[in-house]
Amino acid sequence: CGIIGIVGTAPVADRLVDSLKRLEYRGYDSAGIATLEAGRLNRRRAQGKLRNLETELAQAPLAGQIGIGHTRWATHGRPSVANAHPHATTQVAVVHNGIIENYRELREELLRDGANFESETDTEVVAHLVTRELRSGAGPEAAVAASLPRLKGAFALAFMFDGEDDLLIGARKGSPLAIGYGKGEMYLGSDAIALAPFTDQICYLDDGDWAVLHRGRAEIRNAANDVVVRPIQRSSATAFLVEKGNHRHFMAKEMHEQPEVVSHTLAHYLDLAAETVLLEADLPFDFTGLERISIAACGTAYYAGLIAKYWFEQIARLPVEIDVASEFRYREAPLPKNGLAIVISQSGETADTLASLRYARQEGQKVMAVINVPTSTIARESDAVMPTLAGPEIGVASTKAFTCQLATLAAVAVAAGRARGVLTPERERELVRALIEVPRLMNEALRLGPQIEVLARSFAKSQDVLYLGRATSYPLALEGALKLKEISYIHAEGYAAGELKHGPIALIDEKMPVVVIAPHDQVFDKTMSNMQEVAARGGRIVLLTDARGAAEAGIETEATLVLPEMHPFVTPLVYAIPIQLIAYHTAVQMGTDVDQPRNLAKSVTVE
Ligand code: G6P
Repeated sequence: CGIIGIVGTAPVADRLVDSLKRLEYRGYDSAGIATLEAGRLNRRRAQGKLRNLETELAQAPLAGQIGIGHTRWATHGRPSVANAHPHATTQVAVVHNGIIENYRELREELLRDGANFESETDTEVVAHLVTRELRSGAGPEAAVAASLPRLKGAFALAFMFDGEDDLLIGARKGSPLAIGYGKGEMYLGSDAIALAPFTDQICYLDDGDWAVLHRGRAEIRNAANDVVVRPIQRSSATAFLVEKGNHRHFMAKEMHEQPEVVSHTLAHYLDLAAETVLLEADLPFDFTGLERISIAACGTAYYAGLIAKYWFEQIARLPVEIDVASEFRYREAPLPKNGLAIVISQSGETADTLASLRYARQEGQKVMAVINVPTSTIARESDAVMPTLAGPEIGVASTKAFTCQLATLAAVAVAAGRARGVLTPERERELVRALIEVPRLMNEALRLGPQIEVLARSFAKSQDVLYLGRATSYPLALEGALKLKEISYIHAEGYAAGELKHGPIALIDEKMPVVVIAPHDQVFDKTMSNMQEVAARGGRIVLLTDARGAAEAGIETEATLVLPEMHPFVTPLVYAIPIQLIAYHTAVQMGTDVDQPRNLAKSVTVE
């Protein structure tokens, strides 16, 4: 899941591990490094957290001024030392992100040629492929060049060779890889954060590129093996300290940053003084002629898209179809001539979302990307990039990236409504004013923390939790359930409140908390009827509403979380906060690994 490589002028083992620590946020289940000691390949690997690798290294240190390191998030083969990277033969060591799709076929071919496999991974075939080339007389570069075209799938790779003290080779197809330029040293990393301790001079490889690194220089070639020049950029990741500040977890820090980062994002898209949206002028398409928007995304980003669907339809009278990216990419959906596709992704690297983007482009759509990492692959392949200014999100469970996605999509929906002549100037001002109030409302919502902390004690004892909502509160119910299962491992489901009676009502008993998201909006009364249905069956209700809603609910609840009153347009942005706090405090009660929940990865570059 994370890659680092150093061709250095000083010992590298500690530095490789430090860099891997910065990549911990991506999620992983094992880790390893390899170095050349007196020209010979050596490696240390450990299952579980990096401290296990550190213990291993303390007992058996690795010298050497050149090395590669990796944190693995299991795809092929369970987490174990044998499956951890680097994978190696006596001649080459390799670390890999992504999936080699044709590894079975390659493995059989290599087995027939006498290769000995030590692991169940797809990665190991790469080591053996390159080794076979080396044995037949090829030099390292030629061996990699001959092997890469044999690999199907999406990957980033870093190679180090026995006896080659001044050579690292990196390759990317589908998964990101960057080169860092240091003083007499060169680096490879899966992102700028990995390289931040060493350099701020970063060059992102394009898809299909591979690069040969020596201490003082790098040569990049494209898929056709022509030497190419890619721009070196100054990365701001060095300025970004991976620290929690006063918070116990990154997730807590990131939840509390929301008023600030959402206001940055809004300021980017709104003219705060004129109370209008800025957007539109420089977009490579025209909202007026659009027939339909198709949205594709994964996980939390998908729920942001689901909320945006309501906004585009209500505010801009634009039909929206939306699907999770892993379905969208294979559904062969016919897309309209004059269509816009919107992909939403924090990382900008999610494999399914990227594939959906490519499908949409192939079908003649203009593509708009709502993205938190502006240098990402998705951003680079889109026609219009709408940055979310959340800053780096380290907690695996998305919080501030989600609300910044919502802020961005809300602004785009208003821009579309204006462009299509649906919104009067007064109505536009009303909506923009509602958005401008969001950071303040979020601050108020964060004050529910202590009350939610108490509530979390009873949540932590539950087996299952149900979340209900209508209209834009429905996708938020889905997000609430996702957040809770991700970090507390408690089973949770989100349902459209009106759908309750068609199934989940059978689950209701005095043990299961039911979180009802019901701001006092147009559908409040309807949601209240559904809440009555829960109450009538002895369900434990936790109601999220405002003062008016609380006064009108007329039902005894286990807890009522009272939020400030606000325009119904912006409720998802603000109600997201108690939803996140419930998951967070429940997870803290349960004692789980909040920032790096088991089995999850921050950036999923595999299908
Ligand atoms: C992973 C993360 C989620 C995230 C999803 C989409 O599953 O754990 O938090 O919502 O990927 O990621 P993206 O970077 O595309 O927003």
